[in-house]
Amino acid sequence: MPLLPSPILAYRAPYFKHLTNFSSILPHHHLPPLLLPRVPTAFLRTFSLFNPCSPLSTTGNSLLSRMEKPFSGSGGGMAKSKAMVEQLRRCGVFHSEKVAEVMETIDRGLFVPAGTPAYMDSPMPIGHNATISAPHMHAMCLDLLNDNLQPGMHALDVGSGTGYLTACFAVMVGSEGRAVGIEHIPELVTWSIENIKKSKAASLLEEGSLSVHVGDGRQGYPEDAPYDAIHVGAAAPEIPKALIEQLKPGGRLVIPVGTFFQDLQVIDKKQDGSLSVRTETSVRYVPLTSREEQLRG
Ligand SMILES: C[S@@+](CC[C@H](N)C(=O)[O-])C[C@H]1O[C@@H](n2cnc3c(N)ncnc32)[C@H](O)[C@@H]1O
Repeated sequence: MPLLPSPILAYRAPYFKHLTNFSSILPHHHLPPLLLPRVPTAFLRTFSLFNPCSPLSTTGNSLLSRMEKPFSGSGGGMAKSKAMVEQLRRCGVFHSEKVAEVMETIDRGLFVPAGTPAYMDSPMPIGHNATISAPHMHAMCLDLLNDNLQPGMHALDVGSGTGYLTACFAVMVGSEGRAVGIEHIPELVTWSIENIKKSKAASLLEEGSLSVHVGDGRQGYPEDAPYDAIHVGAAAPEIPKALIEQLKPGGRLVIPVGTFFQDLQVIDKKQDGSLSVRTETSVRYVPLTSREEQLRG
């Protein structure tokens, strides 16, 4: 797969959590988003130099490669996945044991282009101006959605790219559930299906509880709605209405919202259909846009 030069995105904006994760000090969901204080990324990056668990985004910085180096010499994909998960756990990225289990089961190494350092905590280009999100973002989103990824539940992965997270969802909801990926680049859909076939989610794909489709994810995927869990892997200027409509009462949507400054928002639909919205953290993702716009760069 050709690697086009692209901005490497889909990571948590580096920061000292206590300085910028305002969800811990401000009742975000009661404030209009524009009133939220913002901290420039350059400032955050500077401060994150002192934080060994803080990912440094685009540059393959030596602090980032701390996770990769000890495991690049020996051991198979499973050993490397385990080591990667251990590091994420030490950094407090996730809390549920289910997240550790699924990230060890689905080998990230099967979902990246050849020669890509799969277990490094950084987004990586996958061609077509897209990326595979950083492991810490996958772990964080799985953790946020854990209660809505129980066996038998329905999950939608919008902007499914490599298929990695869709495969994780499928393993979590099991053969009685439904995991659907929707991606607007046909070549990525074909490739993601090949990746899944090599992984431990292959049998779920074969039996039909896991599927990946070409389409505009802003419209969701009504065929398998309503969903207990919806994840969006690209940043939307605003929350697409179709995704809210396709969310089950009791369901949760996790979506990066914004253009340059982006928030990872967590939207819960209550049983009466009303919504609660909060911001989990600041992030940088590629845009949720039209295929033409994305390919134009
Ligand atoms: C940051 S990548 C994440 C991919 C995936 N979560 C992963 O880690 O492999 C965002 C993905 O969203 C896709 N995308 C962007 N806009 C889209 C849209 N309107 N409909 C469907 N997919 C879209 C891109 O092609 C890209 O594959």
